[in-house]
Amino acid sequence: MVPSPKTVRKAVFPVGGLGTRFLPATKAQPKEMLPVVDKPLVHYAVEEARAAGIEQFIFVTGRGKAAIADHFDVSYELKHQLSTRSKEAEVIEDWLPDPGQVCFTRQQEPLGLGHAVWCARHLVGDEPFAVLLADDLMLGEPPCMRQMVDAYSRVGGNLVCVENVAPAFTSRYGILDVAGEDGRLVRARGIVEKPKPSRAPSTLGVVGRYILHPGIFNVLENVERGTGGEIQLTDGLLAMTGTVPFHGLRCDARRFDCGDKAGFVVANVAVALEREDIRDYVREQLEALIGAPRSTRKAAG
Ligand code: G1P
Repeated sequence: MVPSPKTVRKAVFPVGGLGTRFLPATKAQPKEMLPVVDKPLVHYAVEEARAAGIEQFIFVTGRGKAAIADHFDVSYELKHQLSTRSKEAEVIEDWLPDPGQVCFTRQQEPLGLGHAVWCARHLVGDEPFAVLLADDLMLGEPPCMRQMVDAYSRVGGNLVCVENVAPAFTSRYGILDVAGEDGRLVRARGIVEKPKPSRAPSTLGVVGRYILHPGIFNVLENVERGTGGEIQLTDGLLAMTGTVPFHGLRCDARRFDCGDKAGFVVANVAVALEREDIRDYVREQLEALIGAPRSTRKAAG
């Protein structure tokens, strides 16, 4: 069956970044493999894509990222060791993508998010596709990308996930220039990458979830280097404004910025508090820590 033009079957995961903000933890392991409780960040992103009906998972990687490919492959040693303990075997393989569903290409040069997405052009081809940044952990039901795919089937074009950010933080995000709002959907007439608060057209910041029109590849090929000397996906989206519909979606999900140390710690706490096996102990310990800040400080000093 030929898929309808609005079916989103492929997702791109840009995972080439060096993760310098997490050094030394990321000296010898990809930042996307940092665990939130017991699953690597990139695992959550793939689960979310799969729950949205995505069938092909395209990783744009770089040097030193082999652990990501290994994570989504069979581990014969573990399988052998755990073969008699069926419960643990489930933990290592029930979620594995089918053979051929995962593919990898390398970015080769760290030229920015727009460049990373462009590197996937031959693997995506001429169809709409999702982009998920594993740094942004999204917890929601239905999962964030599912909500995006549902909205996309109505609006098409380019769709980005957005949330209100503190005015002082606009310089951390792509910020939408808003033309109109309809419930959770926001019609955009432009977007600016990481503007200073005084130059921000709104406080609606882009979160790392996108559904993109394949025309973005041609646009990214010609986009000039922008903020930070990098090829910005934001500039590609801006260049397409007016040629295809452009919307933001306020997803009903909680976002944890796991590209930031504090956000990563909070994400671990939030996920732990939802996990039946550990939540009571974690809650008790957190309450003890927070309830006794003085004695903790004394002990530490
Ligand atoms: C990237 C995008 C930015 C977006 C952000 C979401 O920035 O360039 O527009 O708001 O992801 O996480 P980065 O966080 O990679 O600097």
